[in-house]
Amino acid sequence: MPDDIYGCAVSTRSHEALQHFNTALPLIRTFHGDPIAPLDRSLEADPQFGLAWITRAILLAQTTDRLYLDEVRRSLRAAESCDLDTRERAHFAAALAWAQGRLHESTTAFGRIAQETPRDLLALQNGHGGCFFTGRQFELRDWPLQAMRAFTEGDEGRHAVLGMAAFGLEECGDYARAFDLGAEAVKLEQTDAWAVHAVAHVHEMRGDIGAGQAWLTATSPGWAEDCGFAYHNWWHLALLHIDAQDHDKALALYDQRIRPDATTQIVLEMLDASALLWRLHLEGVEVGDRFSRLADVWLQKTAGHYAFNDLHAVMALAGAGRLKEAETVRASMRRSLDAGGDNEAMTADVGLPLVDAFIAFAAGRNADALDLILRVRGIAQRFGGSHAQRDVLSLTAVTAAIRGGFRATAEALAAERLTHKPQSPWAQRLWREAGRSGVAQAAE
Ligand SMILES: [Fe+2]
Repeated sequence: MPDDIYGCAVSTRSHEALQHFNTALPLIRTFHGDPIAPLDRSLEADPQFGLAWITRAILLAQTTDRLYLDEVRRSLRAAESCDLDTRERAHFAAALAWAQGRLHESTTAFGRIAQETPRDLLALQNGHGGCFFTGRQFELRDWPLQAMRAFTEGDEGRHAVLGMAAFGLEECGDYARAFDLGAEAVKLEQTDAWAVHAVAHVHEMRGDIGAGQAWLTATSPGWAEDCGFAYHNWWHLALLHIDAQDHDKALALYDQRIRPDATTQIVLEMLDASALLWRLHLEGVEVGDRFSRLADVWLQKTAGHYAFNDLHAVMALAGAGRLKEAETVRASMRRSLDAGGDNEAMTADVGLPLVDAFIAFAAGRNADALDLILRVRGIAQRFGGSHAQRDVLSLTAVTAAIRGGFRATAEALAAERLTHKPQSPWAQRLWREAGRSGVAQAAE
């Protein structure tokens, strides 16, 4: 059996199929181009290349978009009829688990492959993605740290391991080491959008606005073009602009880089669009028909597939004032509660309370919104995403507390924020507003 570019044996005898597979691998690593195209060419050359089918399946499945489910299943059916070695069979089982909604089982299975075969960057990255989508922060950090033993200086793919380790370290609060490993990764590979992103998170969490803006701007030649992750790094830059209270710049990035085509149906892009508009909405910025146009696209997606996405659909609908339609998303989520799979618990424990909170907030029921968010904020990582993404919960809670006149709670949340981000004009302003908020609940 021949080896791929990382030295892992693969079950194809076709040199051409292997070449196309090897073309896809760095694209997957750095989120550049369309890795499905070279995988398809690989499969044209060798339709019995099981790992290419499996890789195709998990790439599509981890978009968290139900739209691709038929293609995921077709790819897995094709893989099932191929001759697979032990490692490839483990990939198959892990991908199948993800496709069937057993997200934790899948994530663990990919992590176990990476432990057994530390140069298997596909398994490591799929496991890393799984950890992200299921909120397993320690393994998000630890599996890449484990794999670093197999990549010495000069090795192909070392940057990717460093970049994943950097993001995991950041999510676990080890900002200094996250910064060092992320910067080292980008030095090795300027197109590594994930490593750039890990360092952007460090700046976001520390509230280092100027350093974050400079980092993203300086590295943008490596990730801004032909990259399926560019919109998310631009989103991070927009967050820093909001932190600096420069709403116009944030909105310009929304229009030019994050959501340049209001009809695009890429879920991960739509998440960032909802999340950015909601933050601007909290700030009282007039966003025109952007919420409504985004909500129209969310309504074309099937709700009840992944709770994190559902909340962001509701953000767009609630932001647009379309609360009846937000209730239809909520109803789909409730129906999904007996669908099986890990999304069930994500929805019941985190997604539904938060959807109720955001609907309450949009309806002006600040006490309900505040209570619901604070009920689940401490366990919200269970439905996935990053600290920076879930920060929308804290921002909405403090805004609800200020508007509702819950002064002590508003001050508590604002003080927490200011401690994390002492340089942030946004945090400073929220602190001032919290101090001026009324004492309505005390008088009731
Ligand atoms: Fe991020």
